[in-house]
Amino acid sequence: MDTHPQLASLLVLLLSLAPLCHGQTSVYLTEPTLTSVVAVNSTALTVNWQFADAVIDQSDLIRVYIIIAEYFTGYNTALYTANYTFTTNKTITSWTQNFPLVNAFYSVCFSSNSTKTNVTQFVAVSQCRLARTCLRTNSSVCPSALPAVVLASSVASTSFLIVVHWFNTSSFVYNTTSVQLAGANTPGTLISSVSNGTYFIQTFRFTDRQPRTTYTVNAMLTYAVANQLRTDTSNLTVTTSRSSKPFLTSDLLIFGAALLSLLLLKSH
Ligand SMILES: *[C@@H]1O[C@H](CO)[C@@H](O)[C@H](O)[C@H]1NC(C)=O
Ligand SMILES: *[C@@H]1O[C@H](CO)[C@@H](O)[C@H](O)[C@H]1NC(C)=O
Ligand SMILES: *[C@@H]1O[C@H](CO)[C@@H](O)[C@H](O)[C@H]1NC(C)=O
Ligand SMILES: *[C@@H]1O[C@H](CO)[C@@H](O)[C@H](O)[C@H]1NC(C)=O
Ligand SMILES: *[C@@H]1O[C@H](CO)[C@@H](O)[C@H](O)[C@H]1NC(C)=O
Ligand SMILES: *[C@@H]1O[C@H](CO)[C@@H](O)[C@H](O)[C@H]1NC(C)=O
Repeated sequence: MDTHPQLASLLVLLLSLAPLCHGQTSVYLTEPTLTSVVAVNSTALTVNWQFADAVIDQSDLIRVYIIIAEYFTGYNTALYTANYTFTTNKTITSWTQNFPLVNAFYSVCFSSNSTKTNVTQFVAVSQCRLARTCLRTNSSVCPSALPAVVLASSVASTSFLIVVHWFNTSSFVYNTTSVQLAGANTPGTLISSVSNGTYFIQTFRFTDRQPRTTYTVNAMLTYAVANQLRTDTSNLTVTTSRSSKPFLTSDLLIFGAALLSLLLLKSH
């Protein structure tokens, strides 16, 4: 012990803490989890959650708070909330909300506070997701709920641009964008960032590509929803055009062969 005075004092500290921990480890509390946010049709979402296994979870009072923020270009963000209190009966595990807007964007935050009455202990968590309702014209087509729309532009034979349109909304906070070719560690070069009120628009350029080749581009979108950082990946394919040179060697050969057969025909 003499050679490890720090270890000895650590042991003393741990031993002195042990009685404090005892009362708390006797109750095991855990929280319900948000399992999915499903688009029902063009105007409604269903939030689904599940409770922790009663064999493990000893909480006897669980409060659930759900906040849905609705946002859409040109509209103010609207909030929809639902609160539930559960004791022994935990039969409600979903909430469906219908909205006034069609095919709009949502951030869904699910918070809970699991407690055991008479014990000053609780477990409070918050989980958030983005969601989007389906198309008006076809309610079986429900676009992904990304915070930005990623498009290809100015596609040429050896270069193209990737344009990322981040929605300008208070529901989430932009953090970073990283655009690269799938499989290769080739990042796009950021050439411009502009904000026009509706969107925050970033343009990335890829050069030195091959003509008539299909590339998969991964756009990693990092943003914060309710102070939690999230990264979603939007994937798109870009096919470069054929070479802009007027004649490729193969084209010249075909042209030459056609000319030759024409000459041969004429000579008969
Ligand atoms: C969408 O589903 C919700 C919930 O089931 C329903 O109240 C609403 O009328 C539906 N809307 C449309 C346009 O079908
Ligand atoms: C649980 O609560 C739900 C909704 O309040 C109710 O419909 C159901 O009958 C209750 N079940 C039990 C076993 O009490
Ligand atoms: C959770 O509930 C307990 C008991 O009611 C309360 O003391 C605590 O402040 C709550 N925590 C949060 C983060 O809501
Ligand atoms: C709706 O979209 C689905 C899936 O893309 C498609 O199979 C279906 O034919 C579409 N329905 C209409 C009415 O366009
Ligand atoms: C912002 O840019 C987008 C994409 O270029 C365009 O569709 C939209 O009309 C612009 N909005 C404003 C207010 O200029
Ligand atoms: C995009 O690709 C990444 C990795 O290749 C994958 O993890 C992710 O699920 C894909 N995203 C979508 C929306 O398909």
